[in-house]
Amino acid sequence: MSNEKRLKDRVAIVTGAAQGIGFSIAERLASEGAITILADVKIAAAVAAAERLVKQGFSAEALPVDIGEDASVAGLAKSVDGKYGCCEILVNNAAIGADTHIETMKMEEYQRIININQDGAVRMAMAFVPLIKKAGDGRRIVNVASIQGLRGWPNQLAYATAKGAIVNFTRALACDLAPYGIMVNAIAPGFVDTPMSILPDGSHEYDSDWFRDIYVKYGRIPLRRFGKPLDMAGPAFFLCSDDARYVTGQILSVDGGVSATF
Ligand SMILES: NC(=O)c1ccc[n+]([C@@H]2O[C@H](COP(=O)([O-])OP(=O)(O)OC[C@H]3O[C@@H](n4cnc5c(N)ncnc54)[C@H](O)[C@@H]3O)[C@@H](O)[C@H]2O)c1
Repeated sequence: MSNEKRLKDRVAIVTGAAQGIGFSIAERLASEGAITILADVKIAAAVAAAERLVKQGFSAEALPVDIGEDASVAGLAKSVDGKYGCCEILVNNAAIGADTHIETMKMEEYQRIININQDGAVRMAMAFVPLIKKAGDGRRIVNVASIQGLRGWPNQLAYATAKGAIVNFTRALACDLAPYGIMVNAIAPGFVDTPMSILPDGSHEYDSDWFRDIYVKYGRIPLRRFGKPLDMAGPAFFLCSDDARYVTGQILSVDGGVSATF
């Protein structure tokens, strides 16, 4: 990697950046010179995460947001506008994991997941597009979808429905925002080792023998390992960078090849 800071002084906001994939993306953007805002509902963890970046010599701060709430998102946009006057990069990463099955799911649970995982990204885009339009070069929106937005998966009805919506939201938004030079793309992570993969009983989703057999031993993941948050950072950075100036409306699977198999 060259020493050139390719996002120097660009304002970048990453939702759900207190941990996991969001933190890795925020760290990469900050390392490339972006003024990086780590926006999260877990504000204490986000503050600690931002401090880790500042200690590395990067420009970062934490701001609270609940992407499930209109007023909270509007408050975040107002803070960023007041402090920076614009925003070049929005990464819609925050989401929640939850098992849901059509026969047992309650409508309130479905709506809770859709409200955060699907509507949260729409809400953020509505609030931040005016700020992105005020920015200079390098206007970008990157959504974090999932391979579950591209394929079906048992017991994930609401999550997969929301991620499928994020996939086509990315394409439709790209068409709306192309006249403003705002590129809109998504990454679709595969199985990534983050706190989201911890099951309610404290065990790790990917640690069971059957999971390892199918995905690693027999190669349902062709690269034969689970992803790490850091594996997501480079592809997300590419979509935020000037190198993506002619790329919009695309979904980049970052999944060790899972979606290439059947
Ligand atoms: N881990 C995986 O295997 C995997 C696979 C595919 C896609 N993804 C996607 O990647 C993204 C990041 O997932 P992760 O695995 O790092 O998850 P994670 O649970 O480790 O982190 C999610 C972050 O989002 C924050 N968050 C949750 N609800 C929020 C809200 N309402 N407002 C603001 N912040 C909120 C959490 O506090 C947390 O810091 C998500 O969009 C997820 O769906 C993850």
